[in-house]
Amino acid sequence: MDAADMGKDLEKVLISEEELQAKIKELAGQIDTDYAGKELLIVGVLKGAVMAMADLARALSLPVQMDWMAVSSYGAGTKSSGVVRVLKDLDTDIAGRHVLVVEDIIDSGLTLSWLMQNLKSRNPASVEICTVLRKPEAIKVPIDVKYVGFDIPNEFVIGYGLDYAERYRNLPFIGTLAPHVYGAS
Ligand code: XMP
Ligand code: MG
Repeated sequence: MDAADMGKDLEKVLISEEELQAKIKELAGQIDTDYAGKELLIVGVLKGAVMAMADLARALSLPVQMDWMAVSSYGAGTKSSGVVRVLKDLDTDIAGRHVLVVEDIIDSGLTLSWLMQNLKSRNPASVEICTVLRKPEAIKVPIDVKYVGFDIPNEFVIGYGLDYAERYRNLPFIGTLAPHVYGAS
């Protein structure tokens, strides 16, 4: 699906497929350098990180293992509460391992802040974050993020794993939704 097929739902393309793919390759190059000689476990946070995980894993030259977590934020509405429930835990014991958490987006940072504390308590050799997107204006808790794809404005975005009501995850680019889509749901 491209921007034309999206018809009236899409407001604008914020980051093109080409820009995304180039950025993933750039991040993979940095990660290859930083973790040279080590074995890395990349952990994708479901469901938003699937596209980034698939592309990043194939762009890396390092030997990597892949694992997944699914978490859900308690509380009403679309805003993150910071109280997190683990829906699917890792299959891997990360004690002594080098772990890189791969995220689609950091908004308030509350979910990831909780997740990092949780993972650190399992005594990994190291744990760092790679996120495709970050909204600096929305950050509520300071988070140390080692790899950031793009800092974006505080707008709701879709595509490349990110959804609105479970739609648009499969778009190969990042876009914003037209306001009528919100109103129509
Ligand atoms: P916090 O606020 O805890 O939440 O950093 C991060 C999670 O919230 C979701 N999220 C979005 N999903 N478009 C989306 O499709 C967005 O613009 C957006 N902002 C936050 C997402 O699940 C992320 O992991
Ligand atoms: Mg997510």
